[in-house]
Amino acid sequence: MTVIVTGGAGYIGAHIIRLLAARGDDVVVVDDLSNGRADRVGDARLEVADLAADSTVDRLAALFREVGARAVIHLAARKRVDESLTRPTWYYRQNVGGLAHVLEAMERADVPSLVFSSSAAVYGAPSSALVTEASPTAPMNPYGETKLAGEWLVRDAARAWGMRCLSLRYFNVAGAGWDDLHDPAALNLVPLVLGRIRAGLPPLVFGSDHPTPDGTCIRDYVHVLDLAQAHIAALDHVALAGAVVDDDAGPGADHVLNIGTGVGSSVLEVLDAFAVATGAPVVPELLGRRAGDPPQVVAAVDRAVDVLGWRAERDLAEIVRSTVRAEVAAR
Ligand SMILES: NC(=O)c1ccc[n+]([C@@H]2O[C@H](COP(=O)([O-])OP(=O)(O)OC[C@H]3O[C@@H](n4cnc5c(N)ncnc54)[C@H](O)[C@@H]3O)[C@@H](O)[C@H]2O)c1
Repeated sequence: MTVIVTGGAGYIGAHIIRLLAARGDDVVVVDDLSNGRADRVGDARLEVADLAADSTVDRLAALFREVGARAVIHLAARKRVDESLTRPTWYYRQNVGGLAHVLEAMERADVPSLVFSSSAAVYGAPSSALVTEASPTAPMNPYGETKLAGEWLVRDAARAWGMRCLSLRYFNVAGAGWDDLHDPAALNLVPLVLGRIRAGLPPLVFGSDHPTPDGTCIRDYVHVLDLAQAHIAALDHVALAGAVVDDDAGPGADHVLNIGTGVGSSVLEVLDAFAVATGAPVVPELLGRRAGDPPQVVAAVDRAVDVLGWRAERDLAEIVRSTVRAEVAAR
């Protein structure tokens, strides 16, 4: 099958295209290389294009027809929460505008299926211990809003012309599936902690009096290779099995799936995993709580298991071990 992977030169995309290539799919990467690297796409064809530019639609439609694309995995997006707060219009243009262009080109070129990168950021600060796809969505920043708007746009396009689609809400993605594919962005706890350790600084812990067993925040860390495998399962589901948007399925029940492990890890447990992986004690600096930080965000994963037959296989220890290995290899 010929698969277009937008953002395929990025951290998660590079893992997905390696799995696709390994099973013999033809992969075409579309990426503007703003945060990606050409040397990560392997033998896949790379089209350097800015998806947010209006002129890209014609070029994409022509490309999709030329290669006989059967599916798009749309990862390309800007992902910095802080930047989204200062540049909201640009974030909407990039993340929602870029997606609209991809969908327009797919409609013109009759590409029937899409897997869309969404995020647990659509939930904001959930009040329940386990977040299901039907939990209320209340993003807390423009980044999360662009992901929720993206899900709506995908759903509406699917309703309008029968495209098959799945939107995957990733929880906290970390680790490396191969030592040469480390996460160059320090945007979640795992790379942030490693950065502090390497700089000889204590990792910062925001809040040690949360209503959790050890007082620190609990999150659901999913290994990037498990996440990449979820995309392969999702791709096969939309391309082969269906996943047409079902208007009667109720809110959150039709085309969105949580992609996490279902297991929460506290900040202190992450630090312990680093102590084991590096063989050195990790002593944190304890600070006050950050405003709006929910004590616990953990995915309910039953739906991904039911729909995709996929379940995360790697644990926190492997996430941290692989992060350390890949960081050493990148030096
Ligand atoms: N990393 C995470 O923890 C996480 C969590 C939830 C959701 N996501 C989503 O997963 C997707 C991939 O994330 P990632 O961590 O691999 O990020 P990344 O920045 O490494 O990859 C994104 C890729 O998209 C490309 N890109 C960005 N804007 C583009 C544009 N306008 N036109 C063409 N290419 C463009 C970048 O060059 C980059 O290669 C994103 O949609 C992100 O929002 C990531």
